[in-house]
Amino acid sequence: MSEPAQEPQAIAMLDLAREVAELRPDIDAAIARILESGAFIGGPEVDAFEREAAEHLGAHHAIGVNSGTDALVLALRALDVGPGHEVITTPFTFFATAEAIVQVGATPRFADIDPVTLNLDPATVPPLINERTRALLPVHLFGLPAPMAALRDLADAHDLVILEDAAQAFGARYAAPCVHCDGGCSDAQRSGLNGHAVGTLGDAAAFSFYPTKTLGAYGDAGLVTTHDPAIAARIRQLRNHGSRPDAKYVNEVTGYNSRLDAIQAAILRVKLPHLAQQTATRRAHAETYQAVLGNLDGVTLPPLHPAHVFHQFTVQLPEDRVAPARAALDAARIAHQHFYPLPLNDQPALAEAGSGRHDPVPVTRAVCNRVISLPIHPYLTTDDVTRVAETVAQAVLS
Ligand SMILES: Cc1ncc(COP(=O)(O)O)c(C=O)c1O
Repeated sequence: MSEPAQEPQAIAMLDLAREVAELRPDIDAAIARILESGAFIGGPEVDAFEREAAEHLGAHHAIGVNSGTDALVLALRALDVGPGHEVITTPFTFFATAEAIVQVGATPRFADIDPVTLNLDPATVPPLINERTRALLPVHLFGLPAPMAALRDLADAHDLVILEDAAQAFGARYAAPCVHCDGGCSDAQRSGLNGHAVGTLGDAAAFSFYPTKTLGAYGDAGLVTTHDPAIAARIRQLRNHGSRPDAKYVNEVTGYNSRLDAIQAAILRVKLPHLAQQTATRRAHAETYQAVLGNLDGVTLPPLHPAHVFHQFTVQLPEDRVAPARAALDAARIAHQHFYPLPLNDQPALAEAGSGRHDPVPVTRAVCNRVISLPIHPYLTTDDVTRVAETVAQAVLS
């Protein structure tokens, strides 16, 4: 017996079909260019995308790789993070952040998060620093920049490197006023971060172009950015089996096959010029959510901050309203996601990953039970977003 056909969702988390339809002529032309050129791996499209991405971000070097996960792994290796080292990161992120640390033989340690921004709380980092600590790995979660000035101060004081996980935040730029305090400190102004893009403030940064991301490919793709030419050279070597571009069959270190596909690079070149408009639409949707949900008791919304690119719109509800809200969204055929159900400390795969498992993360534990991510993609209408918000509001108030 065949499964009953599932009704399509009325409002989905993403509408790539609409995007493809809109960009189709340019995408087709880009793919045709690659087919005609025969340069499927590397070549002029990859070089051009790396140049354009570096320019867009204000990074000195941008190196295409084949996923955001590989971008993290290669960057950690290029930063000399390996066995015996500990890397302090957030427990409230996608698994790949900690997975990359384990893949290079180091141990993840988990600091806690800020209950509103959901980014790493710098005040929880110092108790974890010890002689094995080598790096900080903040995540610009859901598209909101992490507090890089405070983290840079800590890194400088303890001789640590910083790798930014910018997988969810391509295009986010620091802006005043500070999003990480009540206005007193101004992380942005204090350290001159204003106007700087995420991906340019650590020693290196990793981006993902997984199709759902703010800038998404139509397959797997990733990018490492850095200002440091030596790190850039190491990434170029590591992505191609450890051989240098000028000596292909001399393998100086063991690396990876992690090159950026030329077709994906060409697609990303088509999509990059549309990013600003798409981000503006995401922001307008965030304002609509704010208008409907902003004054509800016990509901915490993401900061409506100019630096936020709203990869996700993740709201926190009173814990006992989460199940009713999910049920109401399901009944209305509105998509929603649970980013993230578990602190990474509790992920079964990290059971053997050393002491990080026992790091106390009370804020993250509470947040995991309260969050729902709602649709915020650029092809929603204001009416769609109002409908989603009103469905959640009714469930909270009932
Ligand atoms: C925070 C974070 N880090 C890393 C990754 C890994 O990226 P990819 O899926 O391109 O390997 C993702 C996304 O999937 C992510 O959201």
